Amino acid sequence: MAKVLVGFMGSGKSTIASLLDSDFQDMDSILVDRLGMSISDFFAQQGETAFRRVESQVLAELLAGNHLLSTGGGVVISASNRELLQQHGDVVYLKADFDTLYQRLEADTVNQRPLFLNNSRADLEAIYDQRQAWYEEVASQVIDVVGKTPEQILEEIK
Ligand code: S3P
Repeated sequence: MAKVLVGFMGSGKSTIASLLDSDFQDMDSILVDRLGMSISDFFAQQGETAFRRVESQVLAELLAGNHLLSTGGGVVISASNRELLQQHGDVVYLKADFDTLYQRLEADTVNQRPLFLNNSRADLEAIYDQRQAWYEEVASQVIDVVGKTPEQILEEIK
């Protein structure tokens, strides 16, 4: 069964996955290869719905293996993705409050996330609120990551 890290943008999924297993699979990087452009350019050219379609295909492919996966924060929007995650993944939700995540997103000048760039803070918070139940629904373990070092988080992951 694949081990899967989920959580909102900025929750540290890729960082924690890289420390857990240097062979982890990063869905966003795989998507950039598959799309042939950055996620932000793809959103601008083809829209979010087209992105979500490719994201679902990639998720299904990756869940067929036994790798550690770091997902994009929006993977839980789709009910069929959530079903796949529950059936084929051992899912860990890296949970943080919105203010902490927003500060991290503001400080991240490298990763240009379209939902961060194209939404007001209030709209992004509404997206965060809407997703909470979905992250909880798919997770077999929830870890509050705020104020913890990566090492402390690693220790908590079963
Ligand atoms: C998204 C999160 C991003 C990326 C895309 C959409 C989202 O991944 O997949 O920009 O909807 O939350 P990260 O959570 O790795 O930033």
